[in-house]
Amino acid sequence: MRKDEAARLLQWALPRLGYRYRGFRRVRGQVQKRIERRMAALGIEHSKDYRRYLEGHSEEWAVFESMCRISITRFYRDRDIWERLAQNLLPQLSARAPARALSAWSAGCAAGEEAYTLAIVARLSAEPPVAIDVLGTDIDAHQLARARAARYPPGSLRELPKPLQDRTVFEDRGALAIRAPFRAGVQFLEHDLRRDPPPGRFDLVLCRYLAFTYFDLPWQERIASTLAAAIAEGGVLILGKHERLPPAATGFEPLDPHLPIYGRVPVA
Ligand SMILES: C[S@@+](CC[C@H](N)C(=O)[O-])C[C@H]1O[C@@H](n2cnc3c(N)ncnc32)[C@H](O)[C@@H]1O
Repeated sequence: MRKDEAARLLQWALPRLGYRYRGFRRVRGQVQKRIERRMAALGIEHSKDYRRYLEGHSEEWAVFESMCRISITRFYRDRDIWERLAQNLLPQLSARAPARALSAWSAGCAAGEEAYTLAIVARLSAEPPVAIDVLGTDIDAHQLARARAARYPPGSLRELPKPLQDRTVFEDRGALAIRAPFRAGVQFLEHDLRRDPPPGRFDLVLCRYLAFTYFDLPWQERIASTLAAAIAEGGVLILGKHERLPPAATGFEPLDPHLPIYGRVPVA
């Protein structure tokens, strides 16, 4: 498939799923390869015939959607956010609730890299150390199985500062495995972010490189309301470094001039 054919197919199909084409700018090649493999499996040669196939087979949309899921992630992604968390956000949140562990949600957690990073940073980088329970959710059961296994290729820990690595992982048959104390309190659950939030009210939610990159504006607005409902007043929402809440989102105020860190405030 030529690049322009793939672009036309995606421009037609993505909005039908509530995704925005622009969000896929950097990962289009990866999605194109998956579509090509799928077309080959179906014996379809041209993108316009695959489009016709989608039009005639409603069940193919679920397959198409799974091909559009991007699971790129790594430990300690966006280091300045983790530094802000360690230096003040986590200690401040913890000071508001000194008698209990904080409750955090990593929404769209992929294979758990973000959820474990949070557990590690709370225990080892925050001053004083902060007790935290982390719920990681993702729509992809395969990613969640990897998250529960907690074994990673060394490359995915590249950005985790060496002193943290030394204390939190050990070599296990060619992979790096997370030590038990940093797995305790971290749980994983299959969940579609477009549905109601998981039960409970969270002090901290990380929703990075999913809704506010790939979803269209109406979905972004709905997800912002879902997140507002899931976060306790005074709690904190963190997006990916280059993401922002849509202008119509309510219940949040920016806490940082440069980073997408928001405080949950009452709706006026
Ligand atoms: C790019 S990864 C982001 C991982 C991590 N949050 C980070 O910032 O590095 C996006 C993840 O969102 C998941 N995902 C896609 N659609 C979803 C949905 N509707 N609900 C929940 N998770 C979803 C994908 O399976 C993938 O693991």
